[in-house]
Amino acid sequence: MDGVRVTDSHSQPQAVALSSRLFWIGALDPQLRSFDIILKTANGTSYNAYLVRGSAGVAVIDTVKEAFADDFFARLESVAEYREIKVIVLNHLEPDHTGALPELMRRAPQAQLFISHKAQSMLKGLLKQESLSFTPVLTGDSVSLGDRSLQFLHTPFLHWPDTQCTYVPEEHTLFSGDVFGCHFCDNRLFNDLVGDFRFSFEYYYAHIMRPFKQYVLSALQLIEPLPLQLIAPAHGPILRDRPDRYIHRYRQLSSPALHSEISPHQKSLLIFYISSYGNTRRMAEAIYQGATRVEDVRVSLYDLEGGEVGPFVDLIEESDGLVLGTPTINGDAVKPIWDLLSSLTVVNLKAKLGGVFGSYGWTGEGVRLVEDRLRGLKLRVPIPGIRVKLIPTDQEIQDCEQFGLELARELMGLREAKSINFEDLA
Ligand code: FEO
Repeated sequence: MDGVRVTDSHSQPQAVALSSRLFWIGALDPQLRSFDIILKTANGTSYNAYLVRGSAGVAVIDTVKEAFADDFFARLESVAEYREIKVIVLNHLEPDHTGALPELMRRAPQAQLFISHKAQSMLKGLLKQESLSFTPVLTGDSVSLGDRSLQFLHTPFLHWPDTQCTYVPEEHTLFSGDVFGCHFCDNRLFNDLVGDFRFSFEYYYAHIMRPFKQYVLSALQLIEPLPLQLIAPAHGPILRDRPDRYIHRYRQLSSPALHSEISPHQKSLLIFYISSYGNTRRMAEAIYQGATRVEDVRVSLYDLEGGEVGPFVDLIEESDGLVLGTPTINGDAVKPIWDLLSSLTVVNLKAKLGGVFGSYGWTGEGVRLVEDRLRGLKLRVPIPGIRVKLIPTDQEIQDCEQFGLELARELMGLREAKSINFEDLA
């Protein structure tokens, strides 16, 4: 396949042909070093926008970040006139893809906007226009451009609630939005020509898609049956060489690994602790003993001091329950616990079981603070945390065992519901 030249110092930016009817009209941002504040972009990114030419009109799919609008319009003008634009599709409304939209709408006022159902309120918030005409679409909806057509796939939460993909069946091409994208800027554009972007692809998945694995799997059910010759994502290389590899990798990354190792009826309970003088550790071991008494609960005990956060996050993602043990120092839980918790924002924790325990010297706020954080991360924390002042007594060790037993029973749906007498609360 031929190489491509996106632009040179003496000419206007030019569109790049993906086929005789499809064109890249995006922009390159090689100097970007962080995206959305949290993602590192070691060699920048690209904002990929595309143009589809049919016998009855032209469609523009996505735009670019506002600061790069000049490149976008120059490339668009190199292959189409504004009066030809019949359709504008927004696969995703984040500003890196809609920055040039208001100006595009001004230049092509006849074009009809197509967005996902979930994008409707976002579009109004973005454009702040009283009268705004658009067509919301779902899977199964399509629009004709004559001898080319656009079919829409409802793929929410990849990466925002509004995201969708657009398929051109006559070209066997999927315009995938953020899905299958990565922050990797290379003016050779195509995956068989650019440098090695595997790290960027994996890093992008880990930070953008990983929290929404169930949505990725739902999207793959729509995408995998499509005859595909090319995937055109909104960032990074255009995937024309064996695009199926990237679909396969998304399925691998989104499929649980741990549950393929244990029986479907088993549940995984993880206990992490950190301990200054061994008191929180003794509590952890007693909780572990109590939890192991419940059949089909696979209990694991880890000292945070002896491990790395990354692999622990992988374990937690696939666990059913998470129990954290922390001392209280200066009125707070300790840093390794907070470091672990702050790393959990990339995984979906909703409805997992949570529990907290810890030894303290003076006031013991750490347990409550961590409980609050677990609830903030959408875990359920049905059993109040257990705190011990300094060294646990034999009775307190038994209480810890009971705490572990109750947590494990709760995990298996075996815990008896408590009836609360309101007079006791007075
Ligand atoms: Fe590339 Fe979620 O924006």
